[in-house]
Amino acid sequence: MALAEAGKRPIVVDLDLQFGDVGIALGLSPERTIYDLARVGGSLDPDKVADFVTEHPSGAGAMLAPSRPDQAGTVTVEFLRELYSVLRARYDYVIVDTPPGFTPEVIASIDLASNLLVVGMLDALSLKDTKLGLETLALMGCDPARIRLVLNRADTSVGIKRSEAETILGRTPDAFVPSDREIPRATTDGQPIVVAAGRSEAAKAFHGLAALYLQDELVAEAASNGNGNGSGSGSKGKRRRLGRAKQARS
Ligand SMILES: Nc1ncnc2c1ncn2[C@@H]1O[C@H](COP(=O)(O)OP(=O)(O)OP(=O)(O)O)[C@@H](O)[C@H]1O
Ligand SMILES: [Mg+2]
Repeated sequence: MALAEAGKRPIVVDLDLQFGDVGIALGLSPERTIYDLARVGGSLDPDKVADFVTEHPSGAGAMLAPSRPDQAGTVTVEFLRELYSVLRARYDYVIVDTPPGFTPEVIASIDLASNLLVVGMLDALSLKDTKLGLETLALMGCDPARIRLVLNRADTSVGIKRSEAETILGRTPDAFVPSDREIPRATTDGQPIVVAAGRSEAAKAFHGLAALYLQDELVAEAASNGNGNGSGSGSKGKRRRLGRAKQARS
């Protein structure tokens, strides 16, 4: 939402294929989901995909999760590969909200992503999972430079300080989102926090996070202008983001 407010065109793909709730969190009705698109069969083209995107009033798009867990199996890795390719050409940011866990679909999405966003919390169990997640990404050969780390509920007093968390995780988080009771309230209302309470500290954290990616884009553009023709990646500044488990909705 913060990216849409900045004039970009983002789309979120809810890859929590069994229990995805991006639609509810954004107040969208799941008339057409990723399951319906996967069921159509045949190759994907931009017009076909567009028919299954749910539009949010902010200007962001959403590819919603299946409405029932038993529909999850229809979404294959091959389908996702094709889907991301189509979305990447059409949107400035393709944000994949993953379920907790390295399923084949999540692994494929990580491999195809240009950037990864790992979200953890400041309690012992979450820090253990976050550390394991970061280690697994390293084993998968992910360049640490394309990983960002967010700590959610980072102000809650649970006996672990931010500095201790940094030592455990071996890196400094790029953003801290405080606990804010407006967030579940906004979720219930189907409103992202940056819309429901744009001046709250939580919304500021999400704006700060969006600013990091917008800044990356400026740096990439400057670098490609400096190179004369900007050929290198051929991505034309398009980015794909991947959010892992424990993600607070922005
Ligand atoms: N910073 C926060 N302050 C208060 N409530 C929050 C905060 N972040 C998330 N929540 C609430 O916690 C619940 C779970 O949030 P969310 O769906 O983002 O978690 P998740 O980690 O993505 O879950 P899952 O691992 O199941 O995908 C929601 O009701 C949300 O409103
Ligand atoms: Mg989630």
